[in-house]
Amino acid sequence: MKIYVAIAFISLVGCVSAQCNIPPQYWCDSLSVAQKCGVESACREFLNAEAAEPVNIELYFESLCPGCRQFITTQLYPTWMSLKESGIMAASMVPYGNAKEVQLSSGLWNYTCQHGAEECVGNLIENCIIHYSEDKFDTYFPILYCMEDASDPIKAAEMCVKKSDLDWDQIHTCSKGEQGNHLMHKSAMKTEALDPAHKYVPWIVANGKHTEGMQQEAQGNLLKFVCDTYTGAKPKECQSGIKFKQIVSFRE
Ligand SMILES: *[C@@H]1O[C@H](CO)[C@@H](O)[C@H](O)[C@H]1NC(C)=O
Repeated sequence: MKIYVAIAFISLVGCVSAQCNIPPQYWCDSLSVAQKCGVESACREFLNAEAAEPVNIELYFESLCPGCRQFITTQLYPTWMSLKESGIMAASMVPYGNAKEVQLSSGLWNYTCQHGAEECVGNLIENCIIHYSEDKFDTYFPILYCMEDASDPIKAAEMCVKKSDLDWDQIHTCSKGEQGNHLMHKSAMKTEALDPAHKYVPWIVANGKHTEGMQQEAQGNLLKFVCDTYTGAKPKECQSGIKFKQIVSFRE
């Protein structure tokens, strides 16, 4: 669309440079071609939007941690809602957090969770939801948000899954059995492979990196952080970053 706008503009102005011996449909293919053909400024925004990768946010968390629930409900959810259309943020969640695992003689894993056995139940359900959503954030996040926003995430799980296209019986069976046990072990390995190692939850990794500074920015105002980090042309939703209040972040 933008190419045609640029072309229409140029044909109106009628001042295509002599060095531009390329058909108009290729003028926005690269900045050097755009420069030769005198359409640099019109193509720059288009090229940026094409070239920039979405900001990749990974969240390491556990189902009953208050700071995780606060981050999910007051930052990740509204930011995802705002930026969904623009596609400038990619996200994923790893439900495990500060849990511990010990392998049993059966080959399965025995988990111990920070907020007790209930939290392990929540983590298992969430790992199964992610699996049956084929790891698609846009599919599983509304369900995990629904759980984390409820007064009791584990009691709410059935209702939250039933509001989605997933099958609660399948999720429930998964979470109680070997499949859930294996899925949670995958999350454990992912969490344990973090570099630097995680020291608390919620633990945020952006574009594969974690620093104390970026954690504070992302946890305090995720929309602003993603907009600031994104290297392409900023979508209009980035103008509304000030609407989100800086929150006092907590962690454990
Ligand atoms: C799993 O770990 C808990 C706490 O460490 C322990 O009480 C329990 O007996 C273990 N379960 C198995 C099956 O080993």
